[in-house]
Amino acid sequence: MAKEKKTKFKESVGLDIGSHSIKLVHLKRLHEGYKLLNYEMKSTIPEGLDYSPSDLSPDRFAPVLAGMFKSLKINPRKLKHLVSSIGGDNTSIKQIKTIYLPDDELESALFFEAKKHLPISGAEMLLDYQVLGIEEKTNNMNILLAATTKDLLSQHSQILTDAEAAPGVVDIESLAVTNSFALNSYLEEGIYIILNLGAHKTNMVIYGPEAKFFARDIPWAGYHFTREIMKRKKLSFEEAEKYKKEYGLKEEKVTSDGKTILSLDIAEKTTAEQIAMEVKRSLRFYVKEAGNSDFRKILMTGGTAKLLGLPEYLEENLNLPTEVYNPFANLEMPEKFKDKQDPQLALALGLAMRPE
Ligand SMILES: Nc1ncnc2c1ncn2[C@@H]1O[C@H](COP(=O)(O)OP(=O)(O)OP(=O)(O)O)[C@@H](O)[C@H]1O
Ligand SMILES: [Mg+2]
Repeated sequence: MAKEKKTKFKESVGLDIGSHSIKLVHLKRLHEGYKLLNYEMKSTIPEGLDYSPSDLSPDRFAPVLAGMFKSLKINPRKLKHLVSSIGGDNTSIKQIKTIYLPDDELESALFFEAKKHLPISGAEMLLDYQVLGIEEKTNNMNILLAATTKDLLSQHSQILTDAEAAPGVVDIESLAVTNSFALNSYLEEGIYIILNLGAHKTNMVIYGPEAKFFARDIPWAGYHFTREIMKRKKLSFEEAEKYKKEYGLKEEKVTSDGKTILSLDIAEKTTAEQIAMEVKRSLRFYVKEAGNSDFRKILMTGGTAKLLGLPEYLEENLNLPTEVYNPFANLEMPEKFKDKQDPQLALALGLAMRPE
């Protein structure tokens, strides 16, 4: 969503601290565009742990992050342009329309508007906004509201300071996902659906150059696929992760009892079905709210975008062309990274390319 502005920094670091893994992208700014200097991706799940989400401690992030700075030879104390993100529960984003308000009234008016529109309690809320435009005919303003809680932001800052980095710009995940797409693609008219499929959640964004912006987080993603495999095949978490990466949703060879993994339990909705259902629901809501159904394409990013068979599954179920998005398409790449373009890094890239 960020507008093109003059940028001063020469190098930037985008940092995506996900519940499963930390992704760091180090870019150099060129006269036009960016060059990838380095990147790293590290799991934060302790080895051998058959976890449920509540077993994971927020203390696990900082040591992993500190190790990444070290192996990438980045001195966190000297970082000039660090952009990181927060997402999930306690973040919220919404495009609203208000009557025209002059600058000096806007902020306080928006605070009251935000309380109406965003599910975050007033006293705890930190609010940010961006004026997207003023409608000529009505003089109404289109505004993007983004909010989080003080607690969530300070938890996030703590991870950075524990790894000896000073918090820089903090963006909301769904905005960074949008950035990585909008700054890297030739956009035609119409509406794009971006799904950043992580481990515990999927950031869903509806975005188009002229379309109303919509974002929400769907509480289904890679962890749920793994859990499903653990249950059905009686495997440990690590075995199931491995199995998932090898077979994905593609039907595996028939097991000894003559069944395939997809046909073991049809009573319960599968994770793939849950995700497709939630996306469908949001699309229906969007059509009603925005009066626009000019959907062109679904673009998948995040670690779970690599799940074999998932793009095909979503394409068939949602009846829209679906592809895994390559966030590196317009980046200058050193030879050693050329064959390693990974959709799991899209958000971190969107952060590193934030133009201010
Ligand atoms: N090749 C692969 N095939 C299928 N799944 C994969 C593959 N590689 C990674 N994953 C899955 O991707 C998930 C991690 O993705 P990602 O790094 O985007 O999540 P995260 O940002 O840490 O999580 P979240 O955003 O939910 O907090 C894990 O569930 C992992 O099992
Ligand atoms: Mg993530």
